[in-house]
Amino acid sequence: MKNLDVHIRRLLCSFVFMSLLCSVSSSAARKTKDFTKDWRFHLGEVGNGQVPGLDDSRWRTLDLPHDWSIEGEFSKDNPATLGGGALPGGIGWYRKTFSVPESDKGKLTFVEFDGVYRNSEVWINGHLLGKRPYGYSSFRYDMTQFLKYGKEPNVLVVRADNSQQPNSRWYSGSGIYRNVRLVTTGKLLVDHWGTFITTPEVTAQSAKVAVTTKVRNASGQDQSITLTTVVTAGNGKRITAVSSNCKIPKDSVCEIVQNLIVKNPTLWTLEDPRLHKAVSTIECGGRVCDDYKTTFGIRSFSFDAEKGFLLNGKQEKINGVCNHHDLGCLGAAVNRRAIERQLEILKAMGVNGIRTSHNPPAPELLDLCDRMGIIVMDEAFDMWKKKKTEYDYALDWDVWHRRDLEDMVLRDRNHPSVIIWSIGNEVNEQWDKEDKSGSAIATELAALVKQLDPTRPVTSACNDPSPSNPVITSGALDLIGYNYSHQKFADFPKVFPGKKFIGTETVSALATRGHYDMPSDTVRRWPKRWDIPFETGNPDNTCSSYDNCSAPWGSTHEETWKVMKKCQFLSGMFIWTGFDYLGEPTPYGWPSRSSYFGIVDLAGFPKDAYYMYQSEWTKKPVLHVFPHWNWKNGDTVDVWAYTNCEEVELQLNGRSMGTKKKVGDDLHVAWRLFYEPGTLKAVGRTGGKEVMSREIKTAGAPARILAEADRNLIAADGSDLSFVTVRVLDKDGTLVPNAGNLVQFSISGKGKIVGVDNGLQTSMEPFKASARKAFNGMCLAVVQSTPEAGQIILHAESDGLRESSVVINSK
Ligand code: GAL
Repeated sequence: MKNLDVHIRRLLCSFVFMSLLCSVSSSAARKTKDFTKDWRFHLGEVGNGQVPGLDDSRWRTLDLPHDWSIEGEFSKDNPATLGGGALPGGIGWYRKTFSVPESDKGKLTFVEFDGVYRNSEVWINGHLLGKRPYGYSSFRYDMTQFLKYGKEPNVLVVRADNSQQPNSRWYSGSGIYRNVRLVTTGKLLVDHWGTFITTPEVTAQSAKVAVTTKVRNASGQDQSITLTTVVTAGNGKRITAVSSNCKIPKDSVCEIVQNLIVKNPTLWTLEDPRLHKAVSTIECGGRVCDDYKTTFGIRSFSFDAEKGFLLNGKQEKINGVCNHHDLGCLGAAVNRRAIERQLEILKAMGVNGIRTSHNPPAPELLDLCDRMGIIVMDEAFDMWKKKKTEYDYALDWDVWHRRDLEDMVLRDRNHPSVIIWSIGNEVNEQWDKEDKSGSAIATELAALVKQLDPTRPVTSACNDPSPSNPVITSGALDLIGYNYSHQKFADFPKVFPGKKFIGTETVSALATRGHYDMPSDTVRRWPKRWDIPFETGNPDNTCSSYDNCSAPWGSTHEETWKVMKKCQFLSGMFIWTGFDYLGEPTPYGWPSRSSYFGIVDLAGFPKDAYYMYQSEWTKKPVLHVFPHWNWKNGDTVDVWAYTNCEEVELQLNGRSMGTKKKVGDDLHVAWRLFYEPGTLKAVGRTGGKEVMSREIKTAGAPARILAEADRNLIAADGSDLSFVTVRVLDKDGTLVPNAGNLVQFSISGKGKIVGVDNGLQTSMEPFKASARKAFNGMCLAVVQSTPEAGQIILHAESDGLRESSVVINSK
């Protein structure tokens, strides 16, 4: 096929508005096939690995998505460094042999990659299709002209090169870590990411839906087509439709603009995120040449210098978190359910926003945010021209940045969840006030985004939030993005009169789940001055969970939230971070290999601060009391409660220790007690009435384990997951808060164990294993279904303890 490297024409077509009953016969003009099964993989360099005839029979067979780094061993000597997660990188080759039916002759066949980390090169039958240095970009290649049809085999080969390290400040993963699809179309088709749907006017009575469709004519002849766009509701019901008759010149891509009106629209809101579909059908010569579906949402939003953020006219605070893309023990290998679980845990805390720090995310994340009502700040880069690590994307900047940014916007601009574009995080260019490149690049990138999507604001995450920052002085940012500097939030309207604010990154508090250094005895676990080195950490590399440990550039959770909640002109923030992630184990060195910043640990177990936010961000009654109740006799212990009850009474072994209320802007209540073993009971009351109570008991010796699955019914699709939490309990069923027993898993039936974890930042145990030590009484096993339906039994046992099993059904 000839390369259609043509400029895009905007077509004036004749419009035919269609009645609801007017139907276009649906057909399978376009086929999309999952292309993740049965790949061959070789870790290490291979001479001429792209040659079709190469004998790969001894290579490992695996299914994608795949991350080879997560299978490796931690070492402080791995070139990724601790920042990169201390796991190995290297070079990996993937090969897939497949056939294409004769009936596909005359059609176009594309292979679509959601992301390969990094420096991917792709060949079909020995022909190089292309390279993509950036590990977070999605891309596709047209394989048509090199394919063989019928019984003859085709060989698709991918080489991923993540050997030049360090190239990332966090764990990246390595390989084809996202999904791959094969797409077959006719020669008149909706182009790649070829629709753009906006809702420029939205009221309760009516919404205007503007649809721009790029139609590609690769047929070699001019073509008359009818493009019909049908808008359907989430339940598939047709709402409205429009048709346009157009002439598409040969070898060209034309843009067709259509406008539709949806009466009494169901809106995309955070509470009830209703989605719509636009079904585009191209008819040519009396038949359907292509059909293409785009999910979108009807919503309006604005940022305001006084009111912050408004969604559908309603003021909302963006209570967001930043996350990196790894999925804990699963590494970077994308799994829809694993992302969904993260989002469910965060949503239950009251989170309504995610920042895809610091790169374009997996498409699954955006899809889930659309469905779950979560706002996304979609971020392109962690660096521009000036590098942050030796071999990072700065090396590829000049050649690739326009393409990568463009691809992110084109891919993601129909997602209703995407509300903000970020063109960069803490780029080094912001510090050099003399050098004009910071300003010039910001202007260039923002203009590029605006050209592709004028509907969303552009920001950049600035850790120099001063008005002299060249990225800000460029005037290119619609939202001034602050990283940290919560002390300066209140002055924002004075410093930037009339401008709009977003807390692109805040907090950076540090915690180890279940570890407590009494706040009454320690001032701060990390002095808040740059010139004092970190010396006050614990010898076992733990950080306290009383919200009394934070990075010097950040704050405790409470400090930032107190400011944020007071000022309505602050549209919201993204806390660093929702989940712990692999790499960046600030403030520690070896043997720490994952971060302490998460409100939730790497295994998905909430730390205490989770409940502070939950008490503030949700309407459900919250009473969370901590720490555990296993101390030494006579110890003095700070007992804290996060609650949204009016008052909390604390009782120790039946004796009242006093009733406390939050005063002023307090976010917790606290008591200081002399420890004695027994039961600590907290009773939360509002209006004098008991709302809820919580008990914490002194645990005895470990006696048994309890395994519980987050879902006992999963899909038999070879991908779905059940997350099984294991707790070490004493004989009365109380969690043993410091238990570190080794738990051995075995599995039978239609499932396999794909990862184990315990959330401990210093654990050197492998993630791909069938045993894990509990950490502070808990560990996790992740069970994956096979394509065959049936029962799965996961059995957990530990020396000297009563065992436990869970039954999971897959269907
Ligand atoms: C920020 C940076 C994040 C992360 C964080 C840790 O400055 O943007 O990527 O490194 O610090 O506190």
